[in-house]
Amino acid sequence: MSVDGRIAPPAGGAGFGSRRDRRRLHEARAAADAVLLGAATVAADDPPGSVLADDLRDARRGEGRSAEPLFVIVSGRASCPPAARLLAPRGEERRPIVCVAADAPADRVAALSERAEVRRSGGSGSVALDRVLEELAERDGIRRLLCEGGGVVNAAMLAAGLVDELLVTVAPVLLGAGGSASPVDGALPRTSLTLLEGEVVEGEVFARYRVGGV
Ligand SMILES: NC(=O)c1ccc[n+]([C@@H]2O[C@H](COP(=O)([O-])OP(=O)(O)OC[C@H]3O[C@@H](n4cnc5c(N)ncnc54)[C@H](OP(=O)(O)O)[C@@H]3O)[C@@H](O)[C@H]2O)c1
Repeated sequence: MSVDGRIAPPAGGAGFGSRRDRRRLHEARAAADAVLLGAATVAADDPPGSVLADDLRDARRGEGRSAEPLFVIVSGRASCPPAARLLAPRGEERRPIVCVAADAPADRVAALSERAEVRRSGGSGSVALDRVLEELAERDGIRRLLCEGGGVVNAAMLAAGLVDELLVTVAPVLLGAGGSASPVDGALPRTSLTLLEGEVVEGEVFARYRVGGV
């Protein structure tokens, strides 16, 4: 995020982290069994289907794992664009999972089902994230999940008590109003954090927190 606490520039477009920050993100993805994203992030950023540097893909294969983590998109109203690059077929890689609410519109669900495994994981409008994670553990063997945001899904995960650690980068830049408001964009009880690691490299601050006080 920027020093003024924003996670996207007002006009969208290119990221603002350094190469070192991107490498750390790739390493966190590589360590994860699955990466979870909110539908608005998929719509805004249209991340590519391959999200890892080649050496990290090779290392995963060498460990007998899939080259890429499984993608899970949370999209209660099924607003995730079916044409998103993340949903494009990727050879031997598993199809992404899109979690929608029980009352998600049938036409959008049908369009998403052509490119993803759609799971109806909840009630009206939103999905129960605790059930999503339980199912990912039981059906898909997911043990370690990286939630990449955006702010709405980050807040929902925190509010549901489903987050063990936060990885935060503060880039030496101000973005001003108009972009995404906050890395945690939703109601949340006051939550203490414990700093586990902190490092400053060329003006960029990297921190890892455990959720919960000492
Ligand atoms: N700097 C960074 O590291 C970073 C990382 C990620 C994203 N971003 C930025 O963040 C912005 C998007 O973030 P955002 O906060 O607006 O949205 P978001 O969290 O990416 O997505 C919100 C959407 O996710 C779905 N969702 C979230 N929680 C849900 C729940 N409990 N149940 C059902 N559906 C749920 C809903 O989809 P439906 O509408 O389908 O119901 C909701 O509209 C983009 O600008 C992106 O560039 C920045």
